[in-house]
Amino acid sequence: MKSFADSAPRILIADDQADVLEALRLLLKGEGYQIESATSPAGIISALESRDFDVVLMDLNYTRDTTSGQEGLDLLSRIQTIDSILPVIVMTAWGTVGLAVEAMRRGARDFIQKPWENERLLSIVKTQIDLSNAIRRGLRLEAENRLLRADGRPVMIAESAAMRPVMDLIARVGPSDANVLITGDHGTGKEVVARTLYALSPRSGRPLVTVNAGGLPEGVFESELFGHVKGAFTDAKSDRVGRFELADGGTLFLDEIANVPMNLQAKLLRALETGELERVGSSTTRRVDVRIISATNADVQTEVSAGRFREDLLFRLNTIEIHLPPLHERKEDISILAHHFLRQSAQRYRKHLEGFEPVALQVLLDHPWPGNIRELDHSVERAVLLAEGPQVRASDLGLRPAREGSLRLDEMSIEDVERVLIQKALARFGGNVSHASKTLGLSRSALYRRLQKYSL
Ligand SMILES: Nc1ncnc2c1ncn2[C@@H]1O[C@H](COP(=O)(O)OP(=O)(O)OP(=O)(O)O)[C@@H](O)[C@H]1O
Ligand SMILES: [Mg+2]
Repeated sequence: MKSFADSAPRILIADDQADVLEALRLLLKGEGYQIESATSPAGIISALESRDFDVVLMDLNYTRDTTSGQEGLDLLSRIQTIDSILPVIVMTAWGTVGLAVEAMRRGARDFIQKPWENERLLSIVKTQIDLSNAIRRGLRLEAENRLLRADGRPVMIAESAAMRPVMDLIARVGPSDANVLITGDHGTGKEVVARTLYALSPRSGRPLVTVNAGGLPEGVFESELFGHVKGAFTDAKSDRVGRFELADGGTLFLDEIANVPMNLQAKLLRALETGELERVGSSTTRRVDVRIISATNADVQTEVSAGRFREDLLFRLNTIEIHLPPLHERKEDISILAHHFLRQSAQRYRKHLEGFEPVALQVLLDHPWPGNIRELDHSVERAVLLAEGPQVRASDLGLRPAREGSLRLDEMSIEDVERVLIQKALARFGGNVSHASKTLGLSRSALYRRLQKYSL
C-alpha cells in the first residue's frame, strides 16, 4: 500500500522572501501536503524538471525585478510549456490587480493577494488540486479508451436506425457492473456485443471467460462451471478449477444460457446471488466476484412459461436486456457489413477485389438473411473465393431466392405463417407432435389436421 506521505499532493512554493516561504510551509504542511520550495525563477524550473508537482504557488516578483513582475510572467509561460495541466497559483502584492489579471491571461489558474488569508489560500490550493486531478483522470481515461478501440474491442458495425437504441444501451451499461442478457436470432452478433460490453467495462483488464451451455453434456457442464475435486467422479483424476473461479474479478460470458439444465439452474442462481460456490465433490465454499453477461437465441420468456427456465434466474441475468434485431431489419447496415467482410476475406485469401458490382449489392440488399450477419459473412467469403473479376458479381454470391421459412412476415399470408410456425415447433421438439401442439396452443388432433393440410 502507498503510504499517505507518498500519495499526499506535492506543492512547490516559490518566493524570494524566507519568512513568506516559512509561513507557507507551516500552513501547508499542517494540512498534510508535501512541500518543496524555490527562491528564484531558475529554482522553480529546475524543481519542475526534476519531479512532478500537483500545484505551484509562486510569487510574481523576484529581487532582480521587483516592480513589474515581468520575470514572473515570463516564468508562467515557461511552466505552461513544461506541463500545461499543472495548476499555477500566483501571489501578488496588495494593489496589483492588473498584474494578477495578466498572470491569469498567461495561464495562471488563480491568484492570491499578499498578505493572504489562510482559509482562502487553503481553499484555492485544494480546488486547483482537485481540478487538475480530474483533468488528468479524464485524459488517462481517454487514452485508455483509445487503446481499447485499437486492441480489445471487436469490430461492431451498426449505423442503422434499428441499431441506434442498441448502441446507446451498450454505451450506457458497458461501463457498469450490471448483468446483461443479450437476446437475438442466430448470427445477429450476440457474441460481438458481449465482447464490446466487456471491452467497455472497468473489468476489461481482467479475464473474460466464456462457457457455452449449448455445447456441453449435462454431466460435464457442472464441473466446467464450478470445477471439481479429485475423485468427485470417475474421470476426476485431479482437482479442476471451474470457469466461475477463473473469471474471478472479471467477466463470465454464459452463451446459450437457455440450455442450462434445470438442476443446474438452482446452483447457478445461488452463485449469482451470493457469489458463493463449491467445486463438485467438495464442501468448501469459495467466493467469487464475477460480472455475468449471458446470451441466448431462445425466447426465454416462453422457456419460463413452459417451466424449462427458472424465472428467478432470469431476473438475475437480465438486469439489462439487449435485444438484437435480425439483419433484415437493419438494411442500412448490409452494404457496410458486406464491404467490411469483403476486405477481411480479400486479405485472408490475398485477392485484389475492388468491391461489389451494383447488381450484386442489390442482391445482398434484397436477400432476407435468415442466418443474419453470419450468413452474410459466409456468403461474402464464398463470393470472394469464387470471384474472378475485379468486382464481386451477383453470380459469385450464389444466393438462392428466399425459401418459405425465411419469408418476411409482412409478405406472408396467415396460412404461410401457420405453416412456418408448425414447422418451427416440430423442428424444435424433434418432430414430437405432443410437445409441438402444446407450444402452439393446439390439440394434438388439430395439429394433425394441419399437418395433412400442409403436407408436412
Ligand atoms: N455488428 C457487427 N459488425 C461486424 N461484424 C459482426 C456484427 N455482428 C456480428 N458480426 C459478425 O457476424 C458473425 C456472427 O456473430 P456472433 O457470433 O456474435 O453472432 P451470435 O448472435 O452469437 O450467433 P449465434 O446465435 O449463432 O451464436 C461473427 O463473425 C461476427 O464477427
Ligand atoms: Mg453466439
